[in-house]
Amino acid sequence: MKYSPRLDELLRTAESVCVLTGAGVSAESGVATFRGPDGLWAKLKPEELANFDAFLRNPELVWEWYAYRKKVIHEVSPNAAHIALAEMESIVRDFTLVTQNIDNLHLRAGSKRVLELHGNIERSYCTACGRFDNTVTVTEDRRVPRCSQCGGLMRPDVVWFGEMLPQEEFDQAEEAAGRCELFLSIGTSAVVYPAAGIPLRARSSGAYVVEVNTEHTDISPRVNESLVGPAATIVPALLARMKELRKGTP
Ligand code: OAD
Repeated sequence: MKYSPRLDELLRTAESVCVLTGAGVSAESGVATFRGPDGLWAKLKPEELANFDAFLRNPELVWEWYAYRKKVIHEVSPNAAHIALAEMESIVRDFTLVTQNIDNLHLRAGSKRVLELHGNIERSYCTACGRFDNTVTVTEDRRVPRCSQCGGLMRPDVVWFGEMLPQEEFDQAEEAAGRCELFLSIGTSAVVYPAAGIPLRARSSGAYVVEVNTEHTDISPRVNESLVGPAATIVPALLARMKELRKGTP
């Protein structure tokens, strides 16, 4: 793949890189994305599954759905894009990986520090006392998990529609976007705010913003460069180019 001279220059020299990933980075691992004809939201209603009122109305259904998604995620592996991003972290001095994904695949790929804006399906907490217990799940008879300390209803530690993002993670993501030289927006439709505003924040702070996606998105007209194609091909290629260009530099 041929990159613009500016991108080549940044792959060689950038000391501060920030990356935002979305469901598309995990698509080639076999995790369904949300939007598009095969996306989860084409078949299921987010208002029935991904908001707190829906959860209170029907916790069994919501827990069943998350237990199913967890099972799918446990059956798949990180792909070449996740692995390349983990390696990039060890090359770039100031590297920040921000993800909207709850699938834990970046950490499984070896990324050390991940800002999880929408939570992580592997964690759960009590809606009454806030205690975390990551071992809970629905039982065979569909009974929803209860807190072993106070008996409150447990919920997955994921951000639902209408809920706030974890403040500290979001602040750190905004800071990283604001100070980076190169920003990569990978596999996200960039329509769900506030996460979708992060690439634009980077751009307005002077970063060179590159989108990696199989198609054009809402933010394509506002990025500096679009690399169109699958993440598991493009991201390892970017890493290879970065390593080639930095060969011999300490
Ligand atoms: P979407 O499903 O909205 O978008 C996935 C993006 O990945 C699309 O733009 C696809 O074109 C692209 N894509 C698909 N396969 C790809 C591949 N192999 N390589 C590169 N790109 C590929 O997912 P998100 O943008 O992550 O939030 O969605 C954002 C949020 O909306 C999610 O975190 C979730 C959802 O509703 C909550 O649940 C709160």
